[in-house]
Amino acid sequence: MATQAAGITNETVHLLPQTRQLRALHTIIRDRNCDLERFVTTSGRIIRQLVETALDLLPFEPYGVQTPVGQTYHGLRPVKPICGVPVVRAGESMEHELRAMSPGVRIGKILIQRDKVTKLPRLYYSALPADIDRHSVLLLDPMLATGGTALAAIEVLLAHGVAEDDIVFVSLLSAPEGIDAVHARHPNLRIVTSAIEERLNENAYMIPGIGDFGDRYFGTD
Ligand code: PRP
Ligand code: URA
Ligand code: MG
Repeated sequence: MATQAAGITNETVHLLPQTRQLRALHTIIRDRNCDLERFVTTSGRIIRQLVETALDLLPFEPYGVQTPVGQTYHGLRPVKPICGVPVVRAGESMEHELRAMSPGVRIGKILIQRDKVTKLPRLYYSALPADIDRHSVLLLDPMLATGGTALAAIEVLLAHGVAEDDIVFVSLLSAPEGIDAVHARHPNLRIVTSAIEERLNENAYMIPGIGDFGDRYFGTD
């Protein structure tokens, strides 16, 4: 994995271009004094960039349309329907933006919580479209820390017949440890992220980090 600041890093880790504007948005949400409303609106702006980048990684096929001036526009359309799968709870922040961008999108849910003491993920529930194996899947979780939650969620998708190639994991912050953990088991799985952090601290939180994304987004603690 490379961590160059310019943008896309390699075939499997797609880091958003580290523009000044993106860094300014990160500066707002990483500030411990950022209030709830600003956190939601600003993280939403980053999430939309992540989702657009993830959508661009999906397969497209040629598709022509007639323009109002009687010409053909030789365009593209996605080959497969798209299904968003948020890891509840924090992933629902991304579901909110995906649905705003694409109101007809199908949504599956996977409820996984990280144990507060052991930091190990616990799977409580999943509800996915019966034909999810025919979709391109955006797996949505803003935090990739140890990678335990991501791996557990990926296992759920694979168990439902989704091909590894059809999954794009979308995360706002990623720790090198989490990226490595995902790629140790799934070397080709694509990850889109807006920041690669320094490392995890002793409590398995990312640093410099953002704290607990779910608590900050939903106003709980
Ligand atoms: C957080 C986060 C990820 C997970 C990442 O969830 O939203 O799902 O931890 O950590 P990992 O990579 O070490 O597994 P949390 O359990 O805090 O639930 P929440 O979404 O309700 O905040
Ligand atoms: N979950 C979070 O919300 N933040 C972290 O830094 C790690 C896991
Ligand atoms: Mg949390």
